[in-house]
Amino acid sequence: MALLIAPSILSADFAHLADEAAAVAGADWLHVDVMDNHFVPNLTLGLPVVKSLLEATDIPLDCHLMIDDPDRWAVAYAEAGAYNVTVHAEAVADPVTMAVELRAAGAKAGLSLKPGTDLEDWVEVLPHYDTLLIMTVEPGFGGQSFMPEMMDKVSRARRMVETGHLNVVVQVDGGIDLETIERAAEAGADCFVAGSGVYGMTDRAGAVAALRAKASAHARRPQPSSA
Ligand code: DX5
Ligand code: ZN
Repeated sequence: MALLIAPSILSADFAHLADEAAAVAGADWLHVDVMDNHFVPNLTLGLPVVKSLLEATDIPLDCHLMIDDPDRWAVAYAEAGAYNVTVHAEAVADPVTMAVELRAAGAKAGLSLKPGTDLEDWVEVLPHYDTLLIMTVEPGFGGQSFMPEMMDKVSRARRMVETGHLNVVVQVDGGIDLETIERAAEAGADCFVAGSGVYGMTDRAGAVAALRAKASAHARRPQPSSA
């Protein structure tokens, strides 16, 4: 699978989201951070904004729900047309039913692990999921420093994929920039979320291309030359 670059609109200008989506031409997914001020100490946006964004862009939306009670709220994002809907392991009550419902609603199902959450505790439910989001910062805010100590978790997930024990996209989120993306790619991530690493730059599309080039150069597996 080719590497995926997912700019996070958390660092975009919220008054011009349609333009900000258009500015990341070449991005694979557009990462949308939904925060409820309960699961994390920050409040962002919800379903109405996601619905408007779906109208405004053709880039598949990758919705990262940092909310309490995702069992109640997540499926609506899938039904609205989000491409991937990620819930947090620490918040979901019934992870298997959650994944089944997300897939039934037409989305890919994602499971996210906070830095302190062990991968091994979730291996049994992960066969129901399509994407595994390994947080490389504490969720809640953009612009934080990448946690290199999470690379061991990424490597373990990659090994499970390589050995056929898991079939998930291994996604990293938090502090990804032109420097840190090398380490995440070497550890075996194949989807890279970047907020300030894209929207903190004047040339957003250039930032996406540069991140892709860096990740491809350091990827664990050979990448197609056209990627
Ligand atoms: C943080 C969010 C991230 C955030 C990353 O809780 O999940 O998606 O946008 O921002 P950067 O790339 O600036 O760390
Ligand atoms: Zn995120």
